[in-house]
Amino acid sequence: MSAPFEFSSENRARFERILERYPRKRAAMLPTLHLAQEQLGYISPDVEEYVAGLLEVPIVDVREVLSFYTLFFQKPMGRRHIRVCASLSCWIRGGDEVTGHLRELLGIEEGEVSEDGSVSWEVVPDCLGACEIAPMMQVDGRFEGNLTRERIDGILRNNRKR
Ligand code: FES
Repeated sequence: MSAPFEFSSENRARFERILERYPRKRAAMLPTLHLAQEQLGYISPDVEEYVAGLLEVPIVDVREVLSFYTLFFQKPMGRRHIRVCASLSCWIRGGDEVTGHLRELLGIEEGEVSEDGSVSWEVVPDCLGACEIAPMMQVDGRFEGNLTRERIDGILRNNRKR
């Protein structure tokens, strides 16, 4: 059995610095979860328990936050994760073509991880707040817009180099 999750010593120090910015531990929930996801790649039940313990809140409070924010993964994702906006403006301006092209290019379905663990993608129903560059997607949080098949090819090619 693997050891339960805990922050690395470096992340424990980062967590302590995060806490200094908030009047109450509970208020540090989002940055603490982000830090945990950065370390593990997703939020496992173990992480939920650990974060609840650190912040001295009931585990149900952590789960409530997780169910509200789509930025947190509940299962392992690819090292590079793509989120495609499927809200109105993006959809009208060709969101379907974007998802179709990604499916073809990456050879995986939405929510799957490539065999080598390098990439995964998902469709996000909520507007990602960048309608002016619709259709758009986020690659590891970075906004990429005015997507065409060619642009997507270029973005993924550049990402592979890193
Ligand atoms: Fe896609 Fe707003 S609808 S960013």
